[in-house]
Amino acid sequence: MTRPISELRSQRWFAANDFRSFGHRQRLQQTGLRREDFMGKPVIGIINTWSDISPCHAHLRERAESVKRGIVAAGGHPIEMPALSLGEVMVKPSTMMYRNFLAMECEELLRSHPIDGVVLMGGCDKTTPGLLMGAISMDLPAIFFPAGPMLNGQWRGERTGAGTHTKKYWEELRAGNITQADWIELEGRMTRSHGTCNTMGTASTMTSIAEALGFTLPGASSIPAVDSAHARMAIACGERCVAMVLEDLKPSRLLTRASFQNALVVYMALGGSTNAAVHLPAMAGRADIKLTLADMDAVSSATPVLANLYPSGKFLMEDLFFAGGLPALMHKVSSRLALDCLTVNGKTIGENIAQARCLDDDIIRDIDKPIGEGKTLAVLTGNLAPDGAVIKPSAASPALLKHSGRALVFEDHAELSARIDDPDLDVDASSVLVLRNAGPVGAPGMPEWGNLPIPKKLLAQGVRDMVRISDGRMSGTHYGTCVLHVAPESAVGGPLALITTGDIVDLDVAARSLNMRVSDAELAARRAAWKKPAQRYGRSYALLYQRHVSQADRGCDFDFLEGRGAPEPPIF
Ligand code: FES
Repeated sequence: MTRPISELRSQRWFAANDFRSFGHRQRLQQTGLRREDFMGKPVIGIINTWSDISPCHAHLRERAESVKRGIVAAGGHPIEMPALSLGEVMVKPSTMMYRNFLAMECEELLRSHPIDGVVLMGGCDKTTPGLLMGAISMDLPAIFFPAGPMLNGQWRGERTGAGTHTKKYWEELRAGNITQADWIELEGRMTRSHGTCNTMGTASTMTSIAEALGFTLPGASSIPAVDSAHARMAIACGERCVAMVLEDLKPSRLLTRASFQNALVVYMALGGSTNAAVHLPAMAGRADIKLTLADMDAVSSATPVLANLYPSGKFLMEDLFFAGGLPALMHKVSSRLALDCLTVNGKTIGENIAQARCLDDDIIRDIDKPIGEGKTLAVLTGNLAPDGAVIKPSAASPALLKHSGRALVFEDHAELSARIDDPDLDVDASSVLVLRNAGPVGAPGMPEWGNLPIPKKLLAQGVRDMVRISDGRMSGTHYGTCVLHVAPESAVGGPLALITTGDIVDLDVAARSLNMRVSDAELAARRAAWKKPAQRYGRSYALLYQRHVSQADRGCDFDFLEGRGAPEPPIF
């Protein structure tokens, strides 16, 4: 199907012979364009999350030029528009708080400008779900161009992964096993190139999920940021987006319950980040598809971890690329995929992966030779988390997956930071560290505080993992027996607000349970005495966020953005 140009929404701006359209044409010519450069052509937006303070996206300014080249070659007119960059490490209090901001910005940029289709440029953690949520809501033809992972790191003969080894060496420094000079040397050695984290952290999880949902060209999520193939992929994305506009190939034609099921299979086979358990329900919600924690647990339970990548395994994204990339992994789980789901190149998932082959069976394991017994995600419920909590068994200590211990409760992150290394802290290796007020409303923005630091005195004794529980999140690059995303969160009165130091906590991942040994009567008495904490922000976007964000099990979207809603009238 090919749509006539006259039906494109950009023509409302440019085609009419009236006062307003004169202004639109006049102003584009003010930039040095000729009338024929944009008249009668599909107008393709390029939403670019490049910024000087976003190292993962440092190359996207240059890549946007390649995207434009593809658009022009295919007969379209490119319009690049900057959007919130959300460099994961730099943005405070958390990029998660601004994911919805980016989603709104993406949707409104598309709504308010003469755009027929869009190339979305992102990749650092929250940028992928943020851009996709906005594009799903706007429902114009959209193709996602992943920033691509950075090159492999290496230090003194060891492969080093961004995030994973930062945390590891930080603990070794605190334990006295590496020197301050080593630590400073690592600063300049662990991140060798532009690009997103090279582990199977949130960035690679989400760009791979974008590919599994059909939002990228085949293989796009695995190409390293600085590989020449990455620039060629940029050209291909621009070129393809023009055709998508003429075919009216919109997100609503890609997204079905089956395509989200594919995304879940890929997520679990990759050993992906727990953060995807928040982003996927939010993305599905924009498409009016209900995706629950129970759906995720069911797929995880049935899906072995095949990608031998940090933090679950021992390789990095560059290794995955050389082993055949995501199409090779999808080929290995093809019997579990809905192969008839449509993708942005107009072909089905099945057609796209038909010729894919794995070139290294240690990096992408066969389905009967997974990298371990642990699965990617387990969903826990009980009197500590009535609406659910998650844990990543593949990155946890097997011995701690069934554990009972005495709770040591920290009221908030400030108290945790102040007390955790106190030599007099009443803690041992069997203790359960609990952090509250780290959730969507309480923090706010659900920062990645869930991998609570091991107390220094226990590090010195050789302890490297403990059971930790919070309503916050954990970096996808991290490992540890961390129970995360407890819902409802403590700041809205969830039971996490009621646990006290000394209560016994029972964690049983096999039974999917998380409980505290506190009677219902005692919990009722504590609830009666509980006081809601004051909201931390009194104005601006943070106030909007605290008022409208949903809980983690529902995806932390805003209540007024969930679902497709009624169609809106044209802007003019
Ligand atoms: Fe950008 Fe990890 S900090 S992807």
